[in-house]
Amino acid sequence: GVSWKLPDHPKLPKNKTVAVVVLDGWGEDNPNEYNCIHKAETPTMDSLKQGAPDKWRLVKAHGTAVGLPTDDDMGNSEVGHNALGAGRIFAQGAKLVDLALASGKIFEGEGFKYIKESFETGTLHLIGLLSDGGVHSRLDQLQLLLKGAGERGAKRIRVHILTDGRDVLDGSSVGFVETLENDLAKLQEKGVDARIASGGGRMYVTMDRYENDWNVVKRGWDAQVLGEAPHKFTSAVEAVKKLRAEPNANDQYLPPFVIVDENGKPVGPIVDGDAVVTFNFRADRMVMIAKALEYENFDKFDRVRYPKIRYAGMLEYDGELKLPSHYLVSPPEIDRTSGEYLVHNGIRTFACSETVKFGHVTFFWNGNRSGYFNPQMEEYIEIPSDVGITFNVQPKMKAIQIAEKARDAILSRKFDQVRVNLPNSDMVGHTGDIEATIVACKAADEAVKMILDAIEQVGGIYVVTADHGNAEDMVKRDKSGKPLLDKNGNVQILTSHTLQPVPIAIGGPGLSPGVRFRKDVPNGGLANVAATVINLHGLEAPTDYEPTLIEVVDN
Ligand code: 3PG
Ligand code: CO
Repeated sequence: GVSWKLPDHPKLPKNKTVAVVVLDGWGEDNPNEYNCIHKAETPTMDSLKQGAPDKWRLVKAHGTAVGLPTDDDMGNSEVGHNALGAGRIFAQGAKLVDLALASGKIFEGEGFKYIKESFETGTLHLIGLLSDGGVHSRLDQLQLLLKGAGERGAKRIRVHILTDGRDVLDGSSVGFVETLENDLAKLQEKGVDARIASGGGRMYVTMDRYENDWNVVKRGWDAQVLGEAPHKFTSAVEAVKKLRAEPNANDQYLPPFVIVDENGKPVGPIVDGDAVVTFNFRADRMVMIAKALEYENFDKFDRVRYPKIRYAGMLEYDGELKLPSHYLVSPPEIDRTSGEYLVHNGIRTFACSETVKFGHVTFFWNGNRSGYFNPQMEEYIEIPSDVGITFNVQPKMKAIQIAEKARDAILSRKFDQVRVNLPNSDMVGHTGDIEATIVACKAADEAVKMILDAIEQVGGIYVVTADHGNAEDMVKRDKSGKPLLDKNGNVQILTSHTLQPVPIAIGGPGLSPGVRFRKDVPNGGLANVAATVINLHGLEAPTDYEPTLIEVVDN
């Protein structure tokens, strides 16, 4: 069994309230006009930076430092919060799927064998995000899966695409659809009846998260399962081009469409006897559709028809719920997270964010585990997000409400750790609206101030950091760093995350005088934060955690 009891830290006191603030999508980059954090008024974060190098430093938040396949992979919230909470680097979904595809093991596993039973008489449906963003899915993985399924007897394949524009450039959807059409044509030459059957933009169709808006999932269900959508086309390339040409259209929010044959009949509704694979590896935006596909009893929307299918996820999306019950690749086994240690060591935890990021500071933080470790020791508060808007319209989001909850939790003295995620710089950064992102960064900074003020009042400690970059660079650049222009001569707006490091700052009246950042972990990343926080609670970190970032020097 695990020995949960952590030794007392030899030099650091217990019983200090520790605020852990995660600014979502807040990286560090050179000051320039596309750096919204630099453009925004951020007096609180600026003053923390003055504490460098002893109380402020940078940590890695992308690539192999967070378990992604390569250092060309930008960071994201899933892997970022996993690393922050778990204190170790785990090979993440993207990497595990790569390995399973490269070795061919994916086709030998239980999940593939299960769906294969439908290949003879049914259709194989693949539903997921079509891009090479590498955050939720990757095109090359879909291509290998298609090829492998064709070689292993799938006779009829239908792909239900979700266009991206959020982890990749807006407008790139057209190219991805063209590439996919080419691959499907090759399968057709080999005698597999393979087509795109439906589509829609990821933020409007299917990929909602944390039960923010079930209508999003319903729109996808109607198109994918029922074959019903407001727009019908005979070609997916034409669909995406035409729908993109509408005023204010973009890849993220394309309306749902179905592909129909020459008689106007949908080419690929999901029916009894079919197999379905959701090919995203990342969990948060697949849990809702997985429930709709898998649960016999389901009341989130009227499914109209509930086909008897064999369904598998690319990964298991929720280990606690065992959802879905069949999957192609086993997820990383993220065990013994800091949150679990803390409840075993008498540390009472409060966590809060608004809906769109709530699971980040709870589910992802706790190693993709939903619920409490011990409800007596923990309280998680979700502030409902605004629904049905893009956050450039409401860039302040719920930052102040989150900070107020954190402040109240700190002042109540009922908790030892008060942890929040402030979503603004990420969620507004993803819209590509620079003016709004500047407002967003300012709002997040004000929220940080409110939390630090409360820590000041109770004599506590703060740790302020981020999960990955986003708002600090809003333009696509060439290798030399120069902004890239589109064919009309406008800069190409970067809606995605970045490869940048993120800041971490420590302080507060409760911080022992000799505490400072060590100099001997120059390559420290997000996984080093967990041991750091555990130390600030007066405990030694588990020995196999990535090393702490702090040391205590005698004054
Ligand atoms: C999303 O799901 O919104 C983006 O793909 C990634 O954003 P996140 O990793 O910050 O959640
Ligand atoms: Co993001």
